[in-house]
Amino acid sequence: MLIAIDGPAGAGKSTVARAVADALGFTYLDSGAMYRCVALAELRGVEDPLGCEIELGGRVTLDGEDVTEAIRAPQVSARASQVAARPEVRGHLVELQREMIGNGDYVAEGRDIGTVVAPDAEVKVFLTASPQERAQRRAEQTGADLARVLAEQLERDERDETREHSPLQAAPDALRVDTTGRSVDEVVAEIARLVQAVR
Ligand code: CDP
Repeated sequence: MLIAIDGPAGAGKSTVARAVADALGFTYLDSGAMYRCVALAELRGVEDPLGCEIELGGRVTLDGEDVTEAIRAPQVSARASQVAARPEVRGHLVELQREMIGNGDYVAEGRDIGTVVAPDAEVKVFLTASPQERAQRRAEQTGADLARVLAEQLERDERDETREHSPLQAAPDALRVDTTGRSVDEVVAEIARLVQAVR
């Protein structure tokens, strides 16, 4: 079984997807980490930027170095949404993602899981929250300046939503869940109920 969770930056995808995976005993796939790793590789001038290794539910490695934390830097976020617009990058990563989730039970999160990677996912959720709240969460997580986070987030959302290949959009059959002002537990419980209903 596959639960696809898509949505913009800061909507709560990672926290919610991890919690849903833990609650149901599913494996978690963070597809954004793959785009982030390619971005970091390019920023570092690595010879083969597509050679990142990502463990399901775990660490990200680039040329043998653990870059799980390094890929979260703001300049990597911005570069990730640029590399993610390129069809050769998407083609490669989507193929890897399909292989990874081919067998077993998964919660996969990203921008195009329910639309492109796995259009036949049994459960699809599109997580949103107000831009202000999304930026506030990210600023609290990272300690960065709120106005700056908001500006960078707007730019990244705009790029992700308007790109030609696999733009960020909700699958027509996705349940839209607005997490503004709601606790993680509430949202996780709502998704768990949805999963029980289709099981
Ligand atoms: O954690 P956050 O939502 O800020 O970002 P992320 O999920 O780690 O994704 C980083 C960037 O990778 C996004 O801004 C997208 O441009 C890109 N991405 C994508 O295009 N498709 C995915 N399935 C996942 C991420």
